[in-house]
Amino acid sequence: MGRPKITVVGAGNVGGTTAQRLAEKDEYEVVLVDIVEGVPQGKALDITQAGPVCGYGTRVVGTNGYEETAGSAVAVITSGIPRKPGMSRDELLATNAKIVKSVVSELVSRSPNVILILVTNPLDAMVHVARRVSGLPKSRVLGMAGVLDSARMRAFIAVELNVPGPDVDAMVLGGHGDTMVPLSRYTTVKGKPVSELMSKERLEAIVKRTREGGAEIVGLLKTGSAFYAPSASAVDMVEAIMKDQKRVLPCAVLCEGEYGLKDVVVGVPVKLGRGGAEQVVEYELTAEEQAGLENSARAVRELCATVDRLMA
Ligand code: NAI
Ligand code: 2OP
Repeated sequence: MGRPKITVVGAGNVGGTTAQRLAEKDEYEVVLVDIVEGVPQGKALDITQAGPVCGYGTRVVGTNGYEETAGSAVAVITSGIPRKPGMSRDELLATNAKIVKSVVSELVSRSPNVILILVTNPLDAMVHVARRVSGLPKSRVLGMAGVLDSARMRAFIAVELNVPGPDVDAMVLGGHGDTMVPLSRYTTVKGKPVSELMSKERLEAIVKRTREGGAEIVGLLKTGSAFYAPSASAVDMVEAIMKDQKRVLPCAVLCEGEYGLKDVVVGVPVKLGRGGAEQVVEYELTAEEQAGLENSARAVRELCATVDRLMA
């Protein structure tokens, strides 16, 4: 048996770094796809050439087609346009829906057992599009956002308390946008509730900064959006799936009654394993947290209705 194949579509900032991080695991065959001629091939070659120095033997294949993607276990979809300063994620809707639609059809026709991890924004709506186009079960169409949003909150807390980032646990639910729902009550440092370690005001400021975390980086970079933490987050999900870890990570999936939410894609805690999103794990929420999640689901639903109209 050869290595399992992971395809990354979009060889830009997020896709390129995702391919690099996957290659460094030295466990997968990595295929990198983009429409721009030469870019996926060049980046694939460059990442492969880093192997002898970094100690991995992965050969990354770069391509402008889909033949090489056949038989992929997981595909990470990053193709699309990113935000510019002042743009909301939602403004990307029409362009990225078309791109995701064509990419998903190409992928699924060659890899019927694939698990899709969407990264392209607006994230929750793109998971909705990918589900519609692919016809795959909801367990095999996931979106990456909650791991990233939680990582931002964890990093802000780690800096504030001067503790190592991995010691902080946080869970951010809801859609990947201004309505996301950081769960301060479930945020801990080595098991200790963060509310015992910092003032309410400081924690509120961190929650606000988390909500605006993507825009903060767009404002600084000016020509694109974040990619180091996003690619790390996507690879965390790939690893949880491929290694059948059964870890509970916040992911965007279709909810069908969980948290009282019906037929809407939104970020919830999900047990990840070889079957993909194996179970939505239901945390107990306060009335305020539940209202926040419902508000977020409402915003996603509106966006999905718009994308459905655009694609009709
Ligand atoms: P980028 O512009 O660096 O890369 C996008 C790549 O997609 C480009 O290389 C482009 O040629 C390629 N592409 C466009 N149409 C394509 C098609 N039909 N087939 C194959 N490739 C195609 O953008 P970046 O920074 O990598 O971001 C990618 C997407 O991910 C954006 O929509 C961005 O908003 C989103 N994003 C989402 C995050 C999340 O938390 N879900 C976090 C970070 C980015
Ligand atoms: C982020 O949160 C732009 O969605 C992207 O960085």
